[in-house]
Amino acid sequence: MAARPLADEDERLCAEMEKSSLSEPQFPPPFLPGRPLSGELHVERAWAHWLRLGAPKFIVAPMVDNSELPFRMLCRNYGAQAAYTPMLHSRIFSENEKYRTMEFTTCKDDRPLFVQFCANDPEVLLEAARFVEPHCDYVDINLGCPQRIARRGNYGAFLMDNLPLIKSLVEKLASNLHVPVSCKIRVFPSLEKTISYARMLEEAGCSLLAVHGRTRDEKDGRKFRADWDAIKAVKNALRIPVLANGNIRHMEDVHCCLEQTGTDGVLSAESLLENPALFAGFRTAEWREDVDPRNNDVELDQTYLVDEYLKLCERYPVPWRMIRSHVHKMLGDWFRAQPNVREELNMQSKLTFEWLHDMVNRLREHGERIPLYQVKGASGDIPTANGFLASA
Ligand SMILES: Cc1cc2nc3c(=O)[nH]c(=O)nc-3n(C[C@H](O)[C@H](O)[C@H](O)COP(=O)(O)O)c2cc1C
Repeated sequence: MAARPLADEDERLCAEMEKSSLSEPQFPPPFLPGRPLSGELHVERAWAHWLRLGAPKFIVAPMVDNSELPFRMLCRNYGAQAAYTPMLHSRIFSENEKYRTMEFTTCKDDRPLFVQFCANDPEVLLEAARFVEPHCDYVDINLGCPQRIARRGNYGAFLMDNLPLIKSLVEKLASNLHVPVSCKIRVFPSLEKTISYARMLEEAGCSLLAVHGRTRDEKDGRKFRADWDAIKAVKNALRIPVLANGNIRHMEDVHCCLEQTGTDGVLSAESLLENPALFAGFRTAEWREDVDPRNNDVELDQTYLVDEYLKLCERYPVPWRMIRSHVHKMLGDWFRAQPNVREELNMQSKLTFEWLHDMVNRLREHGERIPLYQVKGASGDIPTANGFLASA
Protein backbone atom coordinates (compact mmCIF):
# COMPACT_ATOMS: atom_id res chain seq x y z
CA MET A 1 0.00 0.00 0.00
CA ALA A 2 1.58 3.26 -1.08
CA ALA A 3 1.46 5.66 1.85
CA ARG A 4 -0.03 9.05 1.02
CA PRO A 5 1.49 12.39 1.92
CA LEU A 6 1.25 13.29 5.57
CA ALA A 7 -1.03 16.31 5.09
CA ASP A 8 -3.65 14.25 3.22
CA GLU A 9 -3.49 11.60 5.86
CA ASP A 10 -4.03 14.13 8.62
CA GLU A 11 -7.04 15.55 6.83
CA ARG A 12 -8.53 12.12 6.39
CA LEU A 13 -7.89 11.25 10.02
CA CYS A 14 -9.51 14.47 11.20
CA ALA A 15 -12.55 13.72 9.04
CA GLU A 16 -12.68 10.21 10.50
CA MET A 17 -12.36 11.48 14.04
CA GLU A 18 -15.16 13.95 13.41
CA LYS A 19 -17.34 11.21 11.95
CA SER A 20 -16.73 8.92 14.89
CA SER A 21 -17.45 11.69 17.37
CA LEU A 22 -20.90 12.06 15.79
CA SER A 23 -21.71 8.39 16.21
CA GLU A 24 -22.29 6.42 19.42
CA PRO A 25 -20.41 7.87 22.41
CA GLN A 26 -17.67 5.47 23.54
CA PHE A 27 -16.23 5.17 27.01
CA PRO A 28 -13.36 5.21 27.61
CA PRO A 29 -12.80 7.44 24.56
CA PRO A 30 -10.65 6.11 21.70
CA PHE A 31 -6.96 6.93 21.64
CA LEU A 32 -6.32 10.58 20.86
CA PRO A 33 -3.04 12.40 20.76
CA GLY A 34 -2.43 14.70 23.67
CA ARG A 35 -0.98 14.76 27.14
CA PRO A 36 -0.12 11.44 28.77
CA LEU A 37 -3.07 9.97 30.66
CA SER A 38 -3.26 9.26 34.34
CA GLY A 39 -2.47 5.61 35.22
CA GLU A 40 -6.08 4.60 35.80
CA LEU A 41 -7.45 6.04 32.56
CA HIS A 42 -4.53 4.67 30.57
CA VAL A 43 -5.22 1.13 31.81
CA GLU A 44 -8.95 1.51 31.21
CA ARG A 45 -8.37 2.69 27.65
CA ALA A 46 -5.83 -0.05 27.00
CA TRP A 47 -8.41 -2.68 28.00
CA ALA A 48 -11.27 -1.03 26.14
CA HIS A 49 -9.19 -1.07 22.96
CA TRP A 50 -8.16 -4.69 23.49
CA LEU A 51 -11.77 -5.74 24.03
CA ARG A 52 -12.93 -3.76 20.99
CA LEU A 53 -10.50 -5.89 18.96
CA GLY A 54 -12.15 -9.02 20.33
CA ALA A 55 -9.37 -9.81 22.86
CA PRO A 56 -7.38 -11.94 20.38
CA LYS A 57 -5.60 -14.88 21.99
CA PHE A 58 -3.84 -16.62 19.10
CA ILE A 59 -1.37 -14.28 17.47
CA VAL A 60 1.18 -14.47 14.65
CA ALA A 61 4.49 -13.16 16.03
CA PRO A 62 6.53 -10.54 14.16
CA MET A 63 9.01 -12.20 11.79
CA VAL A 64 11.35 -10.38 9.42
CA ASP A 65 10.68 -11.57 5.86
CA ASN A 66 8.15 -14.10 7.19
CA SER A 67 5.06 -12.47 8.75
CA GLU A 68 4.23 -10.65 5.51
CA LEU A 69 0.66 -10.16 4.29
CA PRO A 70 0.00 -13.48 2.47
CA PHE A 71 1.42 -15.48 5.38
CA ARG A 72 -0.61 -13.48 7.89
CA MET A 73 -3.75 -14.14 5.83
CA LEU A 74 -2.96 -17.85 5.62
CA CYS A 75 -2.59 -18.04 9.41
CA ARG A 76 -5.78 -16.03 9.89
CA ASN A 77 -7.58 -18.61 7.71
CA TYR A 78 -6.47 -21.21 10.25
CA GLY A 79 -7.37 -19.70 13.59
CA ALA A 80 -4.90 -16.84 14.11
CA GLN A 81 -6.88 -13.96 15.61
CA ALA A 82 -4.31 -11.17 15.16
CA ALA A 83 -0.90 -10.70 13.58
CA TYR A 84 2.23 -8.57 13.69
CA THR A 85 3.99 -7.33 10.57
CA PRO A 86 7.68 -8.09 10.21
CA MET A 87 9.91 -5.53 11.93
CA LEU A 88 10.21 -2.41 9.79
CA HIS A 89 13.17 -0.07 10.09
CA SER A 90 11.75 3.26 11.27
CA ARG A 91 14.41 5.48 9.73
CA ILE A 92 14.31 3.84 6.30
CA PHE A 93 10.51 3.68 6.47
CA SER A 94 10.22 7.37 7.20
CA GLU A 95 12.65 8.34 4.43
CA ASN A 96 12.08 5.91 1.61
CA GLU A 97 8.81 5.52 -0.23
CA LYS A 98 9.98 2.46 -2.13
CA TYR A 99 10.77 0.67 1.15
CA ARG A 100 7.34 1.60 2.48
CA THR A 101 5.58 0.27 -0.61
CA MET A 102 7.62 -2.92 -0.78
CA GLU A 103 7.75 -3.84 2.88
CA PHE A 104 4.37 -2.76 4.23
CA THR A 105 1.29 -4.14 2.53
CA THR A 106 -2.07 -4.84 4.08
CA CYS A 107 -5.72 -5.36 3.11
CA LYS A 108 -9.17 -4.95 4.58
CA ASP A 109 -9.27 -8.35 6.27
CA ASP A 110 -5.75 -8.05 7.68
CA ARG A 111 -6.97 -6.94 11.13
CA PRO A 112 -6.29 -6.78 14.00
CA LEU A 113 -2.84 -5.78 12.82
CA PHE A 114 0.19 -4.74 14.87
CA VAL A 115 2.83 -2.88 12.86
CA GLN A 116 6.28 -3.29 14.36
CA PHE A 117 9.21 -0.89 14.07
CA CYS A 118 12.73 -0.90 15.34
CA ALA A 119 13.93 2.52 16.38
CA ASN A 120 16.29 4.52 18.54
CA ASP A 121 15.07 8.03 17.81
CA PRO A 122 11.62 9.13 19.06
CA GLU A 123 11.09 11.74 16.31
CA VAL A 124 12.01 9.34 13.54
CA LEU A 125 9.85 6.60 15.05
CA LEU A 126 6.87 8.92 15.22
CA GLU A 127 7.38 9.99 11.63
CA ALA A 128 7.39 6.34 10.51
CA ALA A 129 4.42 5.44 12.71
CA ARG A 130 2.27 8.22 11.24
CA PHE A 131 2.31 6.47 7.86
CA VAL A 132 0.84 3.27 9.24
CA GLU A 133 -1.48 4.40 12.04
CA PRO A 134 -4.58 4.56 9.82
CA HIS A 135 -4.01 0.95 8.76
CA CYS A 136 -3.32 -0.82 12.04
CA ASP A 137 -4.51 -1.45 15.58
CA TYR A 138 -1.19 -1.02 17.43
CA VAL A 139 2.15 0.48 16.56
CA ASP A 140 4.65 -1.88 18.14
CA ILE A 141 8.23 -1.21 19.20
CA ASN A 142 10.71 -4.04 18.79
CA LEU A 143 12.70 -4.19 22.02
CA GLY A 144 13.66 -7.83 21.68
CA CYS A 145 15.80 -8.38 18.59
CA PRO A 146 19.09 -9.92 19.81
CA GLN A 147 20.85 -10.22 16.45
CA ARG A 148 24.21 -8.68 15.55
CA ILE A 149 22.53 -6.33 13.10
CA ALA A 150 20.49 -4.91 16.01
CA ARG A 151 23.65 -4.42 18.08
CA ARG A 152 25.25 -2.53 15.19
CA GLY A 153 22.13 -0.46 14.59
CA ASN A 154 21.52 0.05 18.31
CA TYR A 155 17.95 -1.17 18.42
CA GLY A 156 15.91 -4.16 19.58
CA ALA A 157 17.20 -5.89 22.72
CA PHE A 158 20.30 -3.67 22.80
CA LEU A 159 18.17 -0.78 23.96
CA MET A 160 17.78 -2.71 27.23
CA ASP A 161 21.08 -1.01 28.13
CA ASN A 162 19.42 2.38 27.76
CA LEU A 163 16.03 2.34 29.48
CA PRO A 164 15.57 6.15 29.40
CA LEU A 165 15.75 5.98 25.60
CA ILE A 166 13.13 3.22 25.53
CA LYS A 167 10.93 5.33 27.78
CA SER A 168 11.20 8.30 25.44
CA LEU A 169 10.27 6.14 22.42
CA VAL A 170 7.11 4.87 24.12
CA GLU A 171 6.12 8.29 25.47
CA LYS A 172 6.57 9.90 22.08
CA LEU A 173 4.23 7.49 20.36
CA ALA A 174 1.75 7.29 23.22
CA SER A 175 1.21 11.02 23.30
CA ASN A 176 1.08 11.60 19.55
CA LEU A 177 -0.64 8.68 17.83
CA HIS A 178 -4.30 7.86 17.32
CA VAL A 179 -3.61 4.17 17.89
CA PRO A 180 -2.13 2.67 21.05
CA VAL A 181 1.50 1.65 21.44
CA SER A 182 2.59 -1.90 22.15
CA CYS A 183 6.04 -3.24 22.95
CA LYS A 184 7.68 -6.62 22.53
CA ILE A 185 10.43 -7.33 25.02
CA ARG A 186 12.82 -10.02 26.18
CA VAL A 187 13.37 -10.70 29.85
CA PHE A 188 16.44 -9.71 31.87
CA PRO A 189 18.31 -12.49 33.73
CA SER A 190 17.02 -10.80 36.93
CA LEU A 191 13.27 -11.11 37.50
CA GLU A 192 13.23 -7.95 39.58
CA LYS A 193 14.79 -6.00 36.73
CA THR A 194 12.34 -7.48 34.24
CA ILE A 195 9.40 -6.40 36.36
CA SER A 196 10.59 -2.87 36.90
CA TYR A 197 11.32 -2.64 33.14
CA ALA A 198 7.77 -3.79 32.33
CA ARG A 199 6.28 -1.35 34.86
CA MET A 200 8.28 1.49 33.34
CA LEU A 201 6.83 0.63 29.90
CA GLU A 202 3.28 0.63 31.23
CA GLU A 203 3.81 3.96 32.96
CA ALA A 204 5.33 5.44 29.81
CA GLY A 205 2.11 4.69 27.91
CA CYS A 206 2.52 1.17 26.54
CA SER A 207 -0.97 -0.34 26.12
CA LEU A 208 -0.06 -3.95 25.33
CA LEU A 209 3.09 -5.84 26.23
CA ALA A 210 4.35 -9.03 24.58
CA VAL A 211 6.95 -10.81 26.67
CA HIS A 212 9.34 -13.24 25.02
CA GLY A 213 10.49 -15.37 27.95
CA ARG A 214 14.13 -15.59 26.89
CA THR A 215 17.01 -13.25 27.66
CA ARG A 216 18.99 -11.33 25.06
CA ASP A 217 21.75 -13.97 25.21
CA GLU A 218 19.34 -16.89 24.78
CA LYS A 219 19.16 -16.51 21.04
CA ASP A 220 18.55 -20.10 20.04
CA GLY A 221 14.89 -20.89 20.66
CA ARG A 222 15.46 -24.64 20.27
CA LYS A 223 18.25 -24.66 22.85
CA PHE A 224 16.69 -22.44 25.51
CA ARG A 225 13.18 -22.90 26.88
CA ALA A 226 11.27 -19.66 27.38
CA ASP A 227 10.68 -18.85 31.04
CA TRP A 228 6.90 -18.86 31.56
CA ASP A 229 7.33 -18.08 35.27
CA ALA A 230 8.97 -14.78 34.38
CA ILE A 231 6.12 -14.03 31.96
CA LYS A 232 3.60 -14.83 34.68
CA ALA A 233 5.37 -12.48 37.09
CA VAL A 234 5.18 -9.67 34.52
CA LYS A 235 1.50 -10.35 33.92
CA ASN A 236 0.85 -10.18 37.65
CA ALA A 237 2.80 -6.95 38.01
CA LEU A 238 1.06 -5.06 35.17
CA ARG A 239 -2.48 -3.84 34.63
CA ILE A 240 -2.48 -3.61 30.81
CA PRO A 241 -3.02 -6.73 28.62
CA VAL A 242 0.09 -8.95 28.44
CA LEU A 243 0.97 -11.58 25.81
CA ALA A 244 3.27 -14.57 26.21
CA ASN A 245 5.86 -15.64 23.67
CA GLY A 246 8.03 -18.76 23.55
CA ASN A 247 7.60 -22.57 23.61
CA ILE A 248 4.38 -22.67 21.58
CA ARG A 249 4.48 -25.73 19.30
CA HIS A 250 0.82 -26.79 19.20
CA MET A 251 -2.54 -25.97 20.79
CA GLU A 252 -1.85 -27.89 23.95
CA ASP A 253 1.10 -25.57 24.55
CA VAL A 254 -1.20 -22.62 23.91
CA HIS A 255 -3.70 -23.75 26.52
CA CYS A 256 -0.95 -24.63 29.05
CA CYS A 257 0.75 -21.30 28.52
CA LEU A 258 -2.44 -19.29 28.97
CA GLU A 259 -3.26 -21.23 32.09
CA GLN A 260 0.22 -21.14 33.63
CA THR A 261 1.04 -17.52 32.87
CA GLY A 262 -2.46 -16.02 33.13
CA THR A 263 -1.64 -13.91 30.07
CA ASP A 264 -4.21 -12.58 27.64
CA GLY A 265 -2.86 -14.26 24.52
CA VAL A 266 0.12 -16.01 22.99
CA LEU A 267 2.45 -15.34 20.09
CA SER A 268 3.95 -18.11 18.00
CA ALA A 269 6.76 -17.75 15.45
CA GLU A 270 8.94 -20.70 14.42
CA SER A 271 6.28 -23.39 14.81
CA LEU A 272 3.81 -21.40 12.71
CA LEU A 273 6.31 -21.20 9.89
CA GLU A 274 6.34 -24.96 9.64
CA ASN A 275 2.64 -25.35 10.43
CA PRO A 276 0.49 -22.26 9.73
CA ALA A 277 -2.58 -24.29 10.81
CA LEU A 278 -1.28 -24.57 14.38
CA PHE A 279 -3.96 -22.31 15.85
CA ALA A 280 -6.67 -24.42 14.20
CA GLY A 281 -5.53 -27.38 16.28
CA PHE A 282 -3.28 -29.10 13.72
CA ARG A 283 0.11 -30.50 14.64
CA THR A 284 3.01 -31.92 12.67
CA ALA A 285 4.09 -35.56 12.91
CA GLU A 286 6.75 -34.55 15.46
CA TRP A 287 4.01 -33.92 18.04
CA ARG A 288 1.53 -36.58 17.03
CA GLU A 289 2.21 -39.18 19.74
CA ASP A 290 -0.93 -38.50 21.69
CA VAL A 291 -3.20 -38.19 18.67
CA ASP A 292 -5.62 -41.01 18.09
CA PRO A 293 -5.32 -41.65 14.32
CA ARG A 294 -9.03 -42.56 14.24
CA ASN A 295 -9.71 -38.95 15.13
CA ASN A 296 -7.76 -37.72 12.16
CA ASP A 297 -10.60 -37.39 9.71
CA VAL A 298 -9.52 -33.98 8.43
CA GLU A 299 -7.47 -34.14 5.27
CA LEU A 300 -4.94 -31.37 5.67
CA ASP A 301 -1.27 -31.37 4.88
CA GLN A 302 1.45 -28.82 4.19
CA THR A 303 1.21 -29.15 0.39
CA TYR A 304 -2.38 -27.93 0.68
CA LEU A 305 -1.21 -25.02 2.83
CA VAL A 306 1.53 -24.12 0.33
CA ASP A 307 -0.98 -24.09 -2.51
CA GLU A 308 -3.22 -21.79 -0.51
CA TYR A 309 -0.27 -19.57 0.44
CA LEU A 310 0.82 -19.30 -3.23
CA LYS A 311 -2.68 -18.22 -4.22
CA LEU A 312 -2.54 -15.53 -1.54
CA CYS A 313 0.83 -14.39 -2.92
CA GLU A 314 -0.66 -14.09 -6.39
CA ARG A 315 -3.33 -11.86 -4.90
CA TYR A 316 -1.01 -9.89 -2.59
CA PRO A 317 2.40 -9.74 -4.26
CA VAL A 318 5.53 -10.05 -2.10
CA PRO A 319 9.24 -10.47 -2.91
CA TRP A 320 10.18 -13.97 -4.11
CA ARG A 321 12.71 -14.36 -1.29
CA MET A 322 9.80 -14.49 1.18
CA ILE A 323 7.90 -17.05 -0.90
CA ARG A 324 11.00 -19.21 -1.23
CA SER A 325 11.56 -19.08 2.52
CA HIS A 326 7.98 -20.14 3.33
CA VAL A 327 7.96 -22.95 0.78
CA HIS A 328 11.13 -24.38 2.34
CA LYS A 329 9.79 -24.13 5.87
CA MET A 330 6.31 -25.49 5.21
CA LEU A 331 7.55 -28.34 3.05
CA GLY A 332 10.56 -29.30 5.20
CA ASP A 333 9.19 -32.78 6.01
CA TRP A 334 8.23 -33.41 2.39
CA PHE A 335 11.67 -32.34 1.13
CA ARG A 336 13.37 -34.62 3.65
CA ALA A 337 11.42 -37.48 2.10
CA GLN A 338 12.11 -36.28 -1.47
CA PRO A 339 15.42 -34.34 -1.40
CA ASN A 340 15.68 -34.33 -5.20
CA VAL A 341 12.68 -31.98 -5.39
CA ARG A 342 14.33 -29.62 -2.91
CA GLU A 343 17.47 -29.60 -5.06
CA GLU A 344 15.40 -28.77 -8.13
CA LEU A 345 13.83 -25.86 -6.24
CA ASN A 346 17.24 -24.60 -5.13
CA MET A 347 18.43 -24.67 -8.72
CA GLN A 348 15.65 -22.38 -9.95
CA SER A 349 17.17 -18.91 -10.02
CA LYS A 350 13.83 -17.49 -11.13
CA LEU A 351 10.58 -18.86 -9.75
CA THR A 352 7.05 -18.73 -11.14
CA PHE A 353 3.79 -19.66 -9.45
CA GLU A 354 3.16 -22.21 -12.20
CA TRP A 355 6.47 -23.94 -11.48
CA LEU A 356 5.81 -23.97 -7.73
CA HIS A 357 2.27 -25.37 -8.05
CA ASP A 358 3.65 -28.04 -10.35
CA MET A 359 6.41 -28.85 -7.83
CA VAL A 360 3.80 -29.26 -5.09
CA ASN A 361 1.81 -31.63 -7.33
CA ARG A 362 4.92 -33.72 -8.00
CA LEU A 363 5.63 -33.94 -4.25
CA ARG A 364 2.08 -35.19 -3.75
CA GLU A 365 2.10 -37.65 -6.63
CA HIS A 366 5.48 -39.26 -6.07
CA GLY A 367 5.81 -39.46 -2.32
CA GLU A 368 3.96 -40.75 0.66
CA ARG A 369 1.47 -38.23 2.06
CA ILE A 370 2.61 -36.52 5.26
CA PRO A 371 -0.56 -35.36 7.02
CA LEU A 372 -1.06 -32.79 9.71
CA TYR A 373 -2.82 -34.22 12.73
CA GLN A 374 -5.71 -32.71 14.56
CA VAL A 375 -6.61 -33.45 18.14
CA LYS A 376 -10.37 -33.30 18.54
CA GLY A 377 -11.38 -30.21 20.45
CA ALA A 378 -7.82 -28.86 20.40
CA SER A 379 -8.73 -25.78 18.45
CA GLY A 380 -10.75 -24.64 21.45
CA ASP A 381 -13.03 -21.73 20.81
CA ILE A 382 -11.45 -20.49 17.61
CA PRO A 383 -13.61 -18.98 14.92
CA THR A 384 -13.33 -21.15 11.81
CA ALA A 385 -12.89 -18.47 9.21
CA ASN A 386 -11.81 -21.06 6.69
CA GLY A 387 -14.38 -23.12 4.81
CA PHE A 388 -12.12 -26.17 4.93
CA LEU A 389 -12.43 -26.46 8.68
CA ALA A 390 -16.09 -25.61 8.70
CA SER A 391 -16.88 -28.43 6.28
CA ALA A 392 -14.59 -30.99 7.90
C1 LIG B 1 12.28 -15.89 10.96
C2 LIG B 1 12.08 -15.09 12.22
C3 LIG B 1 12.05 -13.71 12.15
C4 LIG B 1 11.83 -12.96 13.31
N1 LIG B 1 11.71 -11.60 13.21
C5 LIG B 1 11.30 -10.88 14.30
C6 LIG B 1 10.94 -9.53 14.18
O1 LIG B 1 10.90 -8.96 13.09
N2 LIG B 1 10.58 -8.86 15.31
C7 LIG B 1 10.53 -9.47 16.54
O2 LIG B 1 10.18 -8.84 17.53
N3 LIG B 1 10.85 -10.77 16.66
C8 LIG B 1 11.22 -11.48 15.58
N4 LIG B 1 11.45 -12.83 15.69
C9 LIG B 1 11.29 -13.46 17.01
C10 LIG B 1 9.88 -14.03 17.16
O3 LIG B 1 8.88 -13.02 17.02
C11 LIG B 1 9.72 -14.72 18.51
O4 LIG B 1 9.90 -13.77 19.53
C12 LIG B 1 10.71 -15.84 18.73
O5 LIG B 1 10.91 -16.61 17.57
C13 LIG B 1 10.23 -16.75 19.86
O6 LIG B 1 8.99 -17.32 19.55
P1 LIG B 1 8.86 -18.86 19.11
O7 LIG B 1 9.45 -19.65 20.26
O8 LIG B 1 7.40 -19.10 18.92
O9 LIG B 1 9.66 -19.05 17.87
C14 LIG B 1 11.70 -13.60 14.57
C15 LIG B 1 11.75 -15.00 14.62
C16 LIG B 1 11.93 -15.74 13.47
C17 LIG B 1 11.96 -17.25 13.57
